[in-house]
Order: sequence, then C-alpha cells, then structure tokens
Amino acid sequence: MHLRYLLPILFVAKPLAAEFATPSTWEGTNITASTLDRQATIAAAIDVVYANESSNDDFFSILAVYDFRSNTTAYEDAVTAHFSNSTFASNQFVSIALHCLIWTDPIVPTYVNSLMSQCVDAVRAYQAYQDSATLDLAVQAWEYGRTLTISKANIAAGSIPAKTFNITKTCSGVSLVGGTFWQTTDTDTTIFGDSTALFFALSAYLYQATSNSTYLDAAQDSGAFMVDLMNITSAGNGLATVSANDSASCGDTFGAGTFRIDQAGFFLEGLAILPGNTSFGKQDLSVDTLRSNLVNITLTTNKLANADNGIINVGSGLGDQSLVQGLGTLYHTINATGPGDLVTYIGNFLSVQYNTIFTAATILNSNIYAGSWIGPPVEQYDETNQTLALFALVNAAQVTLTTNSTTTGAATGTGTGAGAGNGSGTSTAVPQVTSTSNGAVGLGIDAVLGSVIPLVLISIAIL
Ligand SMILES: *[C@@H]1O[C@H](CO)[C@@H](O)[C@H](O)[C@H]1NC(C)=O
Ligand SMILES: *[C@@H]1O[C@H](CO)[C@@H](O)[C@H](O)[C@H]1NC(C)=O
Ligand SMILES: *[C@@H]1O[C@H](CO)[C@@H](O)[C@H](O)[C@H]1NC(C)=O
Ligand SMILES: *[C@@H]1O[C@H](CO)[C@@H](O)[C@H](O)[C@H]1NC(C)=O
Ligand SMILES: *[C@@H]1O[C@H](CO)[C@@H](O)[C@H](O)[C@H]1NC(C)=O
Ligand SMILES: *[C@@H]1O[C@H](CO)[C@@H](O)[C@H](O)[C@H]1NC(C)=O
Ligand SMILES: *[C@@H]1O[C@H](CO)[C@@H](O)[C@H](O)[C@H]1NC(C)=O
Ligand SMILES: *[C@@H]1O[C@H](CO)[C@@H](O)[C@H](O)[C@H]1NC(C)=O
Ligand SMILES: *[C@@H]1O[C@H](CO)[C@@H](O)[C@H](O)[C@H]1NC(C)=O
Ligand SMILES: *[C@@H]1O[C@H](CO)[C@@H](O)[C@H](O)[C@H]1NC(C)=O
Ligand SMILES: *[C@@H]1O[C@H](CO)[C@@H](O)[C@H](O)[C@H]1NC(C)=O
Ligand SMILES: *[C@@H]1O[C@H](CO)[C@@H](O)[C@H](O)[C@H]1NC(C)=O
Repeated sequence: MHLRYLLPILFVAKPLAAEFATPSTWEGTNITASTLDRQATIAAAIDVVYANESSNDDFFSILAVYDFRSNTTAYEDAVTAHFSNSTFASNQFVSIALHCLIWTDPIVPTYVNSLMSQCVDAVRAYQAYQDSATLDLAVQAWEYGRTLTISKANIAAGSIPAKTFNITKTCSGVSLVGGTFWQTTDTDTTIFGDSTALFFALSAYLYQATSNSTYLDAAQDSGAFMVDLMNITSAGNGLATVSANDSASCGDTFGAGTFRIDQAGFFLEGLAILPGNTSFGKQDLSVDTLRSNLVNITLTTNKLANADNGIINVGSGLGDQSLVQGLGTLYHTINATGPGDLVTYIGNFLSVQYNTIFTAATILNSNIYAGSWIGPPVEQYDETNQTLALFALVNAAQVTLTTNSTTTGAATGTGTGAGAGNGSGTSTAVPQVTSTSNGAVGLGIDAVLGSVIPLVLISIAIL
C-alpha cells in the first residue's frame, strides 16, 4: 500500500525524455540465427584469419572481446601470447623520443591514435583474461599517452614538454585540458579527436581495472574536452581536430571526414566502461546521459551512420569497426539494467549490420567477408576486411532480444509485460522477445524483464 506514496516520487525523479524508436526503414533488425549458429559463423570467419597467420592487433583484440562476451576462454592462449610479445621500450622512449611500444610490427608509430588504438586493443584483452603483463603494457602506454595529452599544468605553463611551440589555452572559451595530440613529432600542433577519444577509453578501462582515481581524473578531462570543445554530442559528431598552436589559434585542421564516426565509436566505448553516474564537462552531464545523447546524435545525424536502411557506410559501402565496437560495448553494459528503449535501439542497429554482412558481404559458406557491408561479396580473403566484419559479427552476436522493428513514432509504449501505462512519458520500453533457442538467450531475457518487474508490481499495487 505504501507503494502508492512512493509512486509519484519515482516518476518525479526521472526527467521527461523522448524514447528511442527504431526507424521502420532499417533493414534486418531481427537476427534469426540461433546463438549456436552465430558462434559457428564467427568461429569460421576467425579460422580463415588463423589459416593466414595474422599478427593484427585488432584481430586479436576482437577474439578477446568475443571470449569476454561469451564467457569463454577459447582464444586466451593465442591472444595472451600475441600481446605479451609486445614490450614497453623505455630506452627507446629516450633515444627515439616519442615511441612507446615495440610491437611485433617493426614500424615505429608516429601517430598517437594508432599507438593508443593498439593499447586499447591490449586492454580489451586484459579485461577478458586478466593477464598482468597485458595490464602492465597498457599502464605504460597510458603513461606515454599522458605526455601527449594537455594537462592543467601544461595550460598554466602555456606549453607542454613533448612540443616545441607554445600552446593555446582555450578555444571558443573552452580550456584545452584533456586534448591529445595527433602525432608524436614535436612540431605537430594538431589535437585529434580520435587520439583523445582513444586515450579516454584507455583511461576508462584502466580505471575499471585498477580503481586508481588518476585514470578517472584523466577520463573526465578527456571527456570534457570531447564534449565541450570538440562538440562530439552535437550534429555530425562535432569537430575531428583543432590546432593547439597559439599563433594560429583553434583552426579545424581536417574538416569533414570519416574520423568523426571513429571518435564517436571510441568515445562510446569509454562511456560504456566508466560508471554511469560519473559526470564531467561544463554541464556536468552524467555518463548515462552522455551515452544516450551520443548514440542519438550519431545514429541520426552522422551521415556515415544515418542511412535510411540503417547500414553503416563510410564510403564505397565500407563498414566501421569503432562504431560497432562502441555500441556493442555499451549494449553489453546496459542490456540488463536499461534503459530498455536504448538497449533495443542499439540491438536493432547492430542486428542490421549483422544481417547485411551475412547476406550481402559474403558468399554463403565461403566465410570470406568483403569490406563493403552492402556487398558485393569478394572471393579474395583480406585480413582488414575480415577483421572489420568480425567486429560487427561479434558485437551483434550478443544481441539476444529482438523488437518489433516497425516502430517509428516517439514515445511508443510497447510494454507488454509492464502494463504500467505511460502517464509520465517515461515508462521503460519492453523489448519484444522472439525466438529463443538456448540458455544464454533465456538468461538475457530474464535479466531485462527483471528490470521491468518493479513497474509491474507498482501497477498492480495501485489498481
Ligand atoms: C534525439 O535528439 C533529438 C534532437 O536533439 C531530440 O529531439 C530527441 O528527443 C532525441 N531522442 C532521444 C531518444 O533522446
Ligand atoms: C588464406 O588462407 C586460405 C586457406 O588456407 C588460403 O587458401 C588463402 O590463399 C590464404 N590467403 C592469403 C591472402 O594468404
Ligand atoms: C563464466 O564461466 C565460468 C567458468 O566456466 C563460470 O564459473 C561462471 O559462472 C560463468 N559466468 C557467467 C556469468 O555465466
Ligand atoms: C614473438 O616474437 C618473436 C620474435 O619476433 C616471434 O618469432 C614469435 O613468433 C612471436 N610470437 C607470437 C606469439 O607472436
Ligand atoms: C613561448 O612563450 C614565451 C613567453 O610566455 C616566450 O618567451 C617564447 O618565446 C614563446 N615561444 C615560442 C616558440 O613562441
Ligand atoms: C595510479 O596511477 C598512476 C598513473 O599510472 C600512478 O602514477 C600511481 O602510482 C597509481 N597509484 C596507485 C596507488 O597505484
Ligand atoms: C561548439 O558548439 C558551441 C555551441 O554550439 C559553439 O559555440 C562552439 O563554437 C563550438 N566549438 C567549436 C570549437 O566549434
Ligand atoms: C604556428 O602558427 C604560426 C602562425 O601561423 C606559424 O608561423 C608557426 O609555424 C606555427 N607553428 C607550428 C609549430 O606549426
Ligand atoms: C547483460 O548484462 C549483464 C550485466 O552487465 C552481463 O553479465 C551479461 O553478460 C550481459 N549480456 C549480454 C548478452 O550482453
Ligand atoms: C576489401 O573490401 C573492399 C570492399 O568490399 C573490396 O573492394 C576490396 O577489394 C577488399 N580488399 C582486398 C584487399 O581484398
Ligand atoms: C524475428 O525472427 C523470428 C524467427 O524467424 C520470427 O519468429 C519473428 O517473427 C521475427 N520478428 C520480427 C519482428 O520480424
Ligand atoms: C509490430 O508493429 C506493427 C506496426 O506498428 C503492428 O501492426 C504489429 O502488430 C506489431 N507486432 C507486434 C508483435 O507487436
């Protein structure tokens, strides 16, 4: 009975918010393959890469993600061997300035984003297998990334030791604290959204792994930079670059390009890893709010991700690895706790990518995938294209719920189980559950319905 009195408080505490509705034009929002079939599809795609002896960090990273999501250890030995073969080179750091890791690949990275990308690859492997050597590598890489990221002390000094020029303190009234440079060269003045978003994600993973607040502070600085200065949650995902040269202040060095879909993906991955109730930036927005805002703005206004059919196309039909990874990581984090409409929306979008790759980008049973997710299929295996497809297949394979794909209006309350009505406009959308074929799927459904049960109880209580 006392629930009657709790009810208004519960609703008042939640702000009025629009609900995510899947456009009716998205094609293939329902993955019909069973979990076992999805696993077989992924394993066969992986086998092709193995047969061709890959040493690609991204490939080993997605293997780790696959194991982590499915709670298996099938690829642990291979992944751990791959990443533990990379060593931090502090001597090289001194002598060849600006180079932190020696990977099996002898090319010295000069782009901070590619360096940070390798480090995020490694830290995902740590999340899956908890191998301390991998964590050590990630920490040392983070320390290095820190030297190429503007700190409060750098702003106060007007310079950063890694660079020879004096740095700008603010752009459009926003501090440059948290911005990460594009290149390691000491005269390169470009701050790059991709580098910054990757350093943000690396910081988030390290905070998750160690609870050391230094990494949380860093994530908050990078996050504030991406939101307030790069405007990543505004139309088209904002800017990709800004110049930190105080004599040529704040120029947008790159202009439009594919970078902004990548920065959105990396940033989402970091947001998925950080605790949802942490906050940062001018408006002190919570990570929960930023997740929702960023998914919304990316899938509706980034022209590489907002096609009518829902298929990512960064040019020539090519898909995008970082966006599916960011969305998949967020899906994994929130699937059980909601918000249900966001879970469903992301699940539908990932399913679209899965279905188009499986039907348009491959010849059935060839297990070879084209980089163009709208096809045509190719006969020739290519490591990069195959890895790209694997990122989508693995991130979509976890989607256990399918929804009615034809909703278009806002604030649709499809609450079959809830019956709680929608008087406040804030009720949790309940995913429509379709075919379930094994225990793992059932688990996911129970978990999601679990979050709805309190509403059911409340609605019964007030009857
Ligand atoms: C998405 O963004 C648009 C434009 O800002 C807004 O009108 C809409 O309510 C947002 N949708 C959700 C689900 O937040
Ligand atoms: C990849 O492996 C397959 C199967 O072993 C082989 O037929 C193909 O030639 C290899 N492709 C490349 C590019 O090495
Ligand atoms: C993951 O696998 C381990 C070992 O097989 C098992 O003990 C654990 O309960 C599993 N966790 C989940 C969430 O299924
Ligand atoms: C580790 O590096 C050595 C030397 O470069 C190489 O021979 C070996 O194949 C690598 N092992 C793995 C698992 O990558
Ligand atoms: C940087 O600023 C300092 C004074 O703040 C000035 O002395 C120095 O010449 C400047 N350096 C460059 C490269 O502009
Ligand atoms: C936290 O991380 C920072 C940066 O890597 C490190 O300098 C510091 O020693 C760590 N603190 C603890 C208590 O481990
Ligand atoms: C970011 O957006 C704000 C508000 O729309 C605008 O004032 C600012 O100039 C933008 N920042 C940059 C660097 O374009
Ligand atoms: C900074 O901008 C000034 C003015 O355009 C230019 O002369 C200088 O070379 C730039 N510095 C660097 C390191 O690019
Ligand atoms: C759903 O979320 C729970 C809790 O975070 C997690 O253990 C589970 O693996 C997730 N399931 C899927 C399918 O992502
Ligand atoms: C990768 O995929 C693209 C688009 O499907 C295709 O044009 C290209 O030939 C593939 N790359 C290689 C090296 O096979
Ligand atoms: C999804 O697929 C299942 C299995 O084929 C089917 O029963 C269900 O009707 C489909 N749902 C939608 C919304 O298409
Ligand atoms: C799905 O949506 C369509 C169109 O809004 C509706 O006609 C149909 O009954 C819905 N199906 C389910 C299972 O809710």
